[in-house]
Amino acid sequence: MDDRASTAPVIRAMTSKDLDRIVEIDSKVLGKSRPEYWEMKLELVEKRSPIASLVAEVDGKVAGFIIGDASGWEYGVPENIGWIDTIGVDPDVQRKGVARELFGEMVTNLKKVGVAKIYTFADWRAWGLLQFLDAMGFERGDMINLELKV
Ligand SMILES: CC(C)(COP(=O)(O)OP(=O)(O)OC[C@H]1O[C@@H](n2cnc3c(N)ncnc32)[C@H](O)[C@@H]1OP(=O)(O)O)[C@@H](O)C(=O)NCCC(=O)NCCS
Repeated sequence: MDDRASTAPVIRAMTSKDLDRIVEIDSKVLGKSRPEYWEMKLELVEKRSPIASLVAEVDGKVAGFIIGDASGWEYGVPENIGWIDTIGVDPDVQRKGVARELFGEMVTNLKKVGVAKIYTFADWRAWGLLQFLDAMGFERGDMINLELKV
């Protein structure tokens, strides 16, 4: 069995019970723990589309997550835009296809509700993330990012 087969992830909808493991993964990825931030985030996730916020389990343990949404889904009339808010995979299981599976499932789900284009933001210094997004087919879009320091 190769490395990928032995870690084939199971993708399922994210729930508030995933909080501790998501906090743990986030802290491994970013080097700081943000439990309050994630508690608030998961409350919002439960109000959003259940089809675009997913976790991946590897050997029964949450190994990665993706949080996305489709605009307008809550009114039952989805527009055709989806977006990725955040994605994270436990460094212990990175480069084994976990994020690819999460992203693939999210795209499949979003397409079913009419999404035709997906947006995301990425820090230009986050090379690994940018390379992942590039590998998933993302291109520079027509929108530009503006910011004002106040
Ligand atoms: C970006 C990230 C989600 C990728 O997860 P992953 O499960 O390791 O990605 P995959 O194994 O599915 O990679 C799919 C493809 O993307 C590309 N890729 C992924 N990570 C890469 C990296 N670090 N460098 C170069 N290419 C990369 C590769 O083409 C890869 O295919 P390959 O392994 O066959 O070459 C993961 O590195 C991560 O969580 N990074 C931190 C993101 C972050 O800061 N999130 C916010 C806080 S949680």
